[in-house]
Amino acid sequence: MFDKRKMRLLESRIDSFRIREKDADDRKVMDEVFDQETLMALYKMFNDKVMNTLEYAVSTGKEGNVFMATSDEGDCAVKIYRISTATFKNISKYIVGDPRFKGVYGSHRKTVLAWAQKEFKNLNRMYDGGVNVPKPRGCYKNILVMDYISIEGLPAPLLKEVKVSAPTKVYRKVVDNMRLIEESGLVHGDLSEYNIMMRDGEPVIIDVGQSVTLDHPLAEEWFMRDVTNITRYFSKLGVRTDGEKLIKKVRGG
Ligand SMILES: Nc1ncnc2c1ncn2[C@@H]1O[C@H](COP(=O)(O)OP(=O)(O)OP(=O)(O)O)[C@@H](O)[C@H]1O
Ligand SMILES: [Mg+2]
Repeated sequence: MFDKRKMRLLESRIDSFRIREKDADDRKVMDEVFDQETLMALYKMFNDKVMNTLEYAVSTGKEGNVFMATSDEGDCAVKIYRISTATFKNISKYIVGDPRFKGVYGSHRKTVLAWAQKEFKNLNRMYDGGVNVPKPRGCYKNILVMDYISIEGLPAPLLKEVKVSAPTKVYRKVVDNMRLIEESGLVHGDLSEYNIMMRDGEPVIIDVGQSVTLDHPLAEEWFMRDVTNITRYFSKLGVRTDGEKLIKKVRGG
């Protein structure tokens, strides 16, 4: 049953996000994120106990925002893809060609919803394959919920933000994850120091919305791009590696 009081509570909570944003542009982003459909979807997720409270904004990205939320099963990260006027210009090229998304054409809104589902599917597949990714919790409409990767309550830093004291060790762990992604039948497609979080010396792979299956027409190109990003980053830290060596480690042979 729809409970007006609960909905009002949710709306006032969302309003507090808007008020906290001092910058007019940031406020506009918050208005875009919390459109009516998203509010209703959040309402349903609260009712279904997927989460209890939405706490604070962790990040404002190109296509969506990430928030920290609480739930009975511990803190979670809530990634909300913007339905309205999101800068999703190139999104269709990711969906077209992926056999799992046959028949998803048409409205921008539909594409965004399919995109959230795609990230959820990719996350599940990687998680099941043993890749160190945040544990997926659920996905409804444009809202994806996963475990919150944190250190003492704050989001763990990205690889690019930490001083890596044992680069070779971390490099090996990243390569292990790349191998597991490959074994899951996927290519990350946007792997770099910007999409790897670091918690207790362990790399956690995030942002898998664009990941595609190995039979995708762009899979090989994107795999090579991931390889280049990772070798470039770790070579700079003094790790003796190159693309060829990395590919061998990931694909064997
Ligand atoms: N599970 C998580 N736990 C904690 N923080 C997270 C989690 N997932 C994402 N974040 C934070 O939110 C940021 C954005 O997440 P992500 O990279 O998935 O989204 P994005 O829309 O691609 O953003 P960007 O455009 O900035 O890359 C991350 O850099 C990270 O700081
Ligand atoms: Mg990212």
